[in-house]
Amino acid sequence: MSVLTRLRDTARRALLGDLPAFAADPIGFVEHHGIGANAPVALRLGPKPAFLISHPAGFQRVLVENRDAYGKGAEQARLRPLFGDGMVTANGPRWEAARQAAKAAFSQSRLNHGLELALCVLAQEAGRLAGNDGAEVDLHSLMGRLTMRMVVAALFHERLENGDSADAIYQAGCVAHRHLSLSMWRLVDLDLHLPTRQGRAFRAAIAEMERQIADFAQAPKGFLAALHPLVAEYGPAVMRDEAITALVAGFETTATAGCWLAYALAQRPELAAGLRQEVEERLPADGELRPALLRDLPRTRALVQEVLRLYPSAWWFARTALADDIVSGVHIPKGASILLCPWALHRQPSLWVAPLDLKPGRFLEGAPADKFAYLPFGAGPRACIGAQLATAELTALAAMLVTTFDIQALSGPLAAQVPEGGITLGAPRAGMTVRLSVRQPMRKVA
Ligand code: HEM
Repeated sequence: MSVLTRLRDTARRALLGDLPAFAADPIGFVEHHGIGANAPVALRLGPKPAFLISHPAGFQRVLVENRDAYGKGAEQARLRPLFGDGMVTANGPRWEAARQAAKAAFSQSRLNHGLELALCVLAQEAGRLAGNDGAEVDLHSLMGRLTMRMVVAALFHERLENGDSADAIYQAGCVAHRHLSLSMWRLVDLDLHLPTRQGRAFRAAIAEMERQIADFAQAPKGFLAALHPLVAEYGPAVMRDEAITALVAGFETTATAGCWLAYALAQRPELAAGLRQEVEERLPADGELRPALLRDLPRTRALVQEVLRLYPSAWWFARTALADDIVSGVHIPKGASILLCPWALHRQPSLWVAPLDLKPGRFLEGAPADKFAYLPFGAGPRACIGAQLATAELTALAAMLVTTFDIQALSGPLAAQVPEGGITLGAPRAGMTVRLSVRQPMRKVA
């Protein structure tokens, strides 16, 4: 290695710290540093100090006990062109007002109506898939389109037909999500400021989502109607910011979990058979899946929980330290970035028996001993507002799949599938494909 190369590498390391290693293999990086750790691990992601947290007491300290000492900071700034001042990115009174306004829309009774509409979308999709009996299906594309339509139905009480508008908003969501994943760990996101191809695609995707939301906002229903007090206080941009936030936070996370769930069912026919029996025993005579039934399917829910343990869609999320703190004996200086990592937390051998095995039964044996050991939806006041909705959607998806189809895995063993570590957890780049064959006799799901 020449002196020049060595100098360049030293300068690069001084400026970027662990960033290149993290960006090259984000999941491998957090596994290497986080599994086995029971205190924050000091890193340097760019010029600022950073800490990786993957132990229960660390999550508890940052998200609950001393939460006022942590805010949404530099990492969320990257999300602002898309989310504006929506609930994921906002801090202080604006966040409190949004969370308060949204609470009513996410209460069980209000959610039930949206969920009924989402179940109609699911039933329609089941019918469409059954019409292509025996087809090979790419799970990411199927789940992305489906969960986008389900989330629009559940939250905005709008029906996107499986055609142009559904496709346009799905494609826009994918482009925006991909851009955030690619740019997250760059020191500067030049695409935002320069007329690059990626920058243009990102801006066009935002414009497409804004256009559709403006349509929904003409006669706001569901979550959008609940935002009225916030619009009165903070102006009309609230509608755009909160709607895009809910769509993007709600569709890709649920879609990816749906991919892992379906693939797990394809790989484990005995699991699918157990779930099928549970669902068929409880389905009413008309065969319709209803919101109340989804709360009465313990084995199906246990699979959803286990899938979110092994494949937490929010595999990491971030805070910035607003004041000095001590976490599990480690000094955290004001200004440090905190990476909270459910992926590593959920694989700690000290917390989970056979952590890498898919064993839904562990969730039937009771909650984990430490309530901060399992956090697919985060914890504390900023925990996921869509947790109930996402769990219901995934439970319904599993119920629909096992009662309607025999699912055959075509992409190899589940354990060999390598997810992509982007802004959220992604399906493997090469895709996951299954064959869906209609069960005989076919059960009606709605
Ligand atoms: C499997 C699906 C999902 C997973 C794993 C997930 C995970 C999470 C996690 C871990 C957080 C907390 C992040 C933090 O503390 O910084 C969060 C926040 C949030 N999620 Fe979800 N989510 C899912 C689905 C949804 C859905 C369906 C919605 C629909 C509206 C949604 C909307 C939100 C919003 C608005 C926040 C910000 C809450 C706040 O800061 O007050 N999520 N999500």
